[in-house]
Amino acid sequence: MPSKLSVNIGRLRIENPVMVCSGTFGYAEEFRGLTDIKKLGAIVTKTITLRARAGNPMPRTCETPAGMLNSIGLENPGIDKFIKEKIPVLEKSGVPIIVSIASDQDIDEFPALAKKLNKINAVGAIELNISCPNVKHAHKVSGGGRLIAQDAQATSDIVRSVRKATRKPLITKLSPNVTDITEIAMAAEEAGSDAVALVNTLIGMSIDVVARRPKIAQGLAGLSGPAIRPVAVRMVWEVYQKIKIPIIGMGGIMDTESALEFFIAGSSAISVGTANFINPRAATEIISGIEKYLRSNKIDSIKELTGSLKCRS
Ligand SMILES: Cc1cc2nc3c(=O)[nH]c(=O)nc-3n(C[C@H](O)[C@H](O)[C@H](O)COP(=O)(O)O)c2cc1C
Repeated sequence: MPSKLSVNIGRLRIENPVMVCSGTFGYAEEFRGLTDIKKLGAIVTKTITLRARAGNPMPRTCETPAGMLNSIGLENPGIDKFIKEKIPVLEKSGVPIIVSIASDQDIDEFPALAKKLNKINAVGAIELNISCPNVKHAHKVSGGGRLIAQDAQATSDIVRSVRKATRKPLITKLSPNVTDITEIAMAAEEAGSDAVALVNTLIGMSIDVVARRPKIAQGLAGLSGPAIRPVAVRMVWEVYQKIKIPIIGMGGIMDTESALEFFIAGSSAISVGTANFINPRAATEIISGIEKYLRSNKIDSIKELTGSLKCRS
């Protein structure tokens, strides 16, 4: 019997639809003792690349009105060290692990990474980060300066190549820095993605007016937090009209009410990001809040809430 809160992402069944976003929950060990990790629906890891990356120079985060900018630059230990040292710790949480991957220099690294993860039972799904705005070479369409997630054909090619390399459920993470996100979502679906995750950060900039320098060393950075929520909700709603595969919604989810907005707009599951830095228990509190909302509104399953927006026509 499926429970009120369980949902499927391809062949991956998660007990509740609340995850934590890539890059905002480390490798989970950082949150041990701060929150009840085993209650989470799934953990999405920091994005992993083939080789270790030191990330971008400091400063690489700053606060902004109702949000933050970051330009971490995909700091990570590289796939082999990740598999050896981080997977065994993540596995102990008992929660499905979704590994986020990205290319570092060459887009062929996507299928190579997926092949390495294919052999590992503890990996419940793979998330393709084709939308990180903070790396110079990775994710770029060959010969151009665009992100893979800004080009429908490039998105399709990557998803197809990874689809051939693994049987694990695939989630494609989309960028809000596009004119029409539905085109990219449809390309991902058509190429065999089991779900789409949206949104990654919006490209932004903050300036220190005394120094007349960008507050982030790299200049441009990714904006996250409540400031981006209305944009993210709008994009989930637009994508929901166009695809059949599940949407994992994110962007400024801080509490139960903001999480519910994403379900009503069309998300099958949601992910908590920046909120983890302010309240490490945000995700688990949202799980209880959703249960309470379903009970008090006499809704039998979270699936009934997905896309239940009533539009004024
Ligand atoms: C500090 C920081 C690091 C992030 N690192 C990653 C990353 O490695 N891979 C990725 O796909 N997204 C990364 N993101 C984006 C988040 O996963 C998420 O898509 C975005 O922040 C929007 O959600 P939020 O507003 O709830 O934070 C990062 C975000 C932040 C704030």
